[in-house]
Amino acid sequence: VSTTTADILAGLDLSDRTFAITGASSGLGRESARALAGAGAHVVLVARRSDALTKAESRIREEFPDAQLSLVALDLTSLASVHSGAAQIAERAPQLHGLINNAGVMFTPFGRTSDGFEMQFGTNHLGHFELTRLLLPQLRAADGARVVNLSSDGHRIADLDLDDPNWERRDYDKFAAYGASKTANVLHAVELGRRLADDGICCYAVHPGMVATALARHMDADDVTTMTSMGRDKDTELPELLRPEVGASTQLWAAVSPTPPGGVYLADCAVSAAEPYAVDPHRAAELWTLSERLVG
Ligand SMILES: NC(=O)c1ccc[n+]([C@@H]2O[C@H](COP(=O)([O-])OP(=O)(O)OC[C@H]3O[C@@H](n4cnc5c(N)ncnc54)[C@H](OP(=O)(O)O)[C@@H]3O)[C@@H](O)[C@H]2O)c1
Repeated sequence: VSTTTADILAGLDLSDRTFAITGASSGLGRESARALAGAGAHVVLVARRSDALTKAESRIREEFPDAQLSLVALDLTSLASVHSGAAQIAERAPQLHGLINNAGVMFTPFGRTSDGFEMQFGTNHLGHFELTRLLLPQLRAADGARVVNLSSDGHRIADLDLDDPNWERRDYDKFAAYGASKTANVLHAVELGRRLADDGICCYAVHPGMVATALARHMDADDVTTMTSMGRDKDTELPELLRPEVGASTQLWAAVSPTPPGGVYLADCAVSAAEPYAVDPHRAAELWTLSERLVG
């Protein structure tokens, strides 16, 4: 399937809607921001570095000089930064029609966030868990808001260990830690969707496909071999990497399609099947309780 962001937004006037996108400085986030701004939406670009934010802003303005853009610096590896960033987003977006939790890191060497969480779980899940919780009033104030978590088919690499989410009692495995964090992104969407159903807010977890972005910055040649052999028959050819205009189409479909998609896990602009452990409602509720405890 090669649906593009332009195909998804064709004919839509989003000039009365506001979206916030984390990781808007690169890859899928930058493409999503560009496309939404081009359709007239007010887009809050969220990224961790101010210089990257202004660069992303100028790129969009070159193409759409009248784009409605706001910039918020926020580092997901620090809960203090998530709190101050969320307050700035709330100020610029009293009504938030879509929150795209897109930022992420992959296969990072062992590390801990400022608050002591394992880096991939802390960045990809806990930072976004807290950001979403803080922005609930703004999401509720919009009619039929959407929350879109960027997950990955990489969630199939590993389940999340709810008894040791921060890798305190096991040897660190960067592949399994990425898989666990992406499983957490799906479980988060499941429980969030259940909690917000009465508010008319729909929540999704998206696999964008294999997309040519800077995400593989922590991979060396051996990592590429390990990853590409996972779950694959050696004789089948690797799929070609998608352009960000194609890769970002599913997250925009989740965020704007006039009829909300009727499932939690989406890929190729369609409802798709996640691993059973990633959509188990009991585990989703357990992760919610655990996340609340961890972010305090
Ligand atoms: N590309 C793929 O094939 C693929 C496949 C499956 C899933 N995904 C998911 O898609 C999402 C977007 O990835 P991408 O491919 O567009 O990668 P990317 O080009 O590396 O973009 C990731 C973005 O996340 C930001 N980010 C990283 N750590 C952050 C932090 N601590 N605080 C705030 N922002 C932070 C990065 O900002 P900096 O530039 O400051 O680091 C960057 O803007 C990720 O969640 C990824 O897991 C991608």
